[in-house]
Amino acid sequence: MTPSPGPLNAQHRASLREHNTFGLPAVARTLVHLASEADVRRVVDHPEYGRAPKFILGGGSNVVFTHDVDAVVLKVEIAGLSLVHEDAQAWIVEAGAGESWHRLVAWTLDQGWPGLENLALIPGSVGASPVQNIGAYGVELKDRFESLDAIDLVTGRKVTLGATDCHFGYRDSVFKQHLAGKSVITRVRFRLPKPWQPVLGYLDLERRMQETGNHQPDARTVFDWICAIRRAKLPDPAVIGNAGSFFKNPVVTPEQCRDIIGRDPEIVHYPMPDGTVKLAAGWLIDACGWKGKSVGRAGVYDKQALVLVNRGGASGAEVVTLARAIQESVYGRFGIRLEPEPIIV
Ligand code: EPU
Repeated sequence: MTPSPGPLNAQHRASLREHNTFGLPAVARTLVHLASEADVRRVVDHPEYGRAPKFILGGGSNVVFTHDVDAVVLKVEIAGLSLVHEDAQAWIVEAGAGESWHRLVAWTLDQGWPGLENLALIPGSVGASPVQNIGAYGVELKDRFESLDAIDLVTGRKVTLGATDCHFGYRDSVFKQHLAGKSVITRVRFRLPKPWQPVLGYLDLERRMQETGNHQPDARTVFDWICAIRRAKLPDPAVIGNAGSFFKNPVVTPEQCRDIIGRDPEIVHYPMPDGTVKLAAGWLIDACGWKGKSVGRAGVYDKQALVLVNRGGASGAEVVTLARAIQESVYGRFGIRLEPEPIIV
C-alpha cells in the first residue's frame, strides 16, 4: 500500500462543534484527519500520538461531548465505494469507513443492488455503523454484514473481522466494549442477498402499503417510504442538532411487563424471540409528559420523545441534565432504568 504523501493532517485546539450532529461545543487538543490506512499506521508510529489515549470519531452522530477532549481525536475520512464480489447468492459491496451511511444506501440502490433500503437516512458514517449495530424498520446492520477491516492502534496490524468476532447485539458490538478506542475500522463489507426480499413487517411500512394500495413495493419505493417516515418524525441534524434515539428501548422480563401492563394497559411492547419483552422507551418518556419540554437549551423533540434536541446553543452538560431528569421520572413511574444510546464523553 502506498503511504499518502505529506505529513499527517492534524489540527491543534480544533473545534468539534461541526463534527457532532448534536452541534455541542467542545475542543479537541489534537484532531487528526485519517484519509487512508497509511494515515492510521502513521498515528500508531507517531512519537507523540502513538502512545496517547485516542478517541475515534466517525460522523459524530452518536456522541455527546460534555467537555473538551484531551485524547487525540481520530476523524476517520477513508473513502471508497465498490462491488468486490457478485455471485448467484449475493452482491458483496465494500465501503470506506469515512463514507456517509446514507450515501452508501443510495449508491447501492442506484447500482441496482437492493438490501439496505430500510436503513436509509440514518445519520453517521459507514465506519460507525457496526460500532452500534445500527438498525431501523426491521433490519439491523448485522443482517447485511459480511466483514470489516480494522487497524489495531497499538500494533498497527490490520485485522479482518467477521460477524461472530464483532459480537453484535442490540445497538452494541465489541467496538463499544473491549475494543472501544483500541482499533480503527477502515472498511466495511456488506452482503446484499439475492433474490431480494423486502422487509415490510414494521407497522409504519404496513400503513404505507394500506394507504397506497401497493403491497409489492420495489426497493426504491421502500427507500422513498422510509425517507418520508423518518423525515416526518425525526429531526434533520442539519437543521436541529440531535443524535437520533437518545435511549435504548429497555428489555424486561415477562413478569415485569405484566406488572406494568396491569398499571398501564396502553404501554407499547414487543415480545422478543428469547421470551423477554422490549418496551418502547419513547412511549415511556412520552407518558411521563416530556414531549416538547426543555431543560435550558436542551429539549425533547415534540414529534418523538425518544429524541433529545439542541434548541440552539445547548451544552453537553444541559443535554445530560435533561437525560438524567428523564431517567429519574421514568424510573419513578415505571421502575425502569433507561440506558443512553450515544457515547457520553
Ligand atoms: N411512541 C410514543 N411516543 C413517542 C415516541 C414513540 O408513544 O414520543 C411510541 C410509538 O407510537 C410507537 C413506539 O413508541 O408505538 C415506538 O416508536 P417508533 O416506532 O418511532 O420507534 P422507536 O422504538 O422509538 C426505534 C429505533 C430507531 C428506529 C426506529 C424504527 C431504538 C432506540 N430506536 O425507535 O432508531 O429508527 O425504531 O425502526 O431502537 C436510533 O437508534 O437512533 C433510531 C432512530
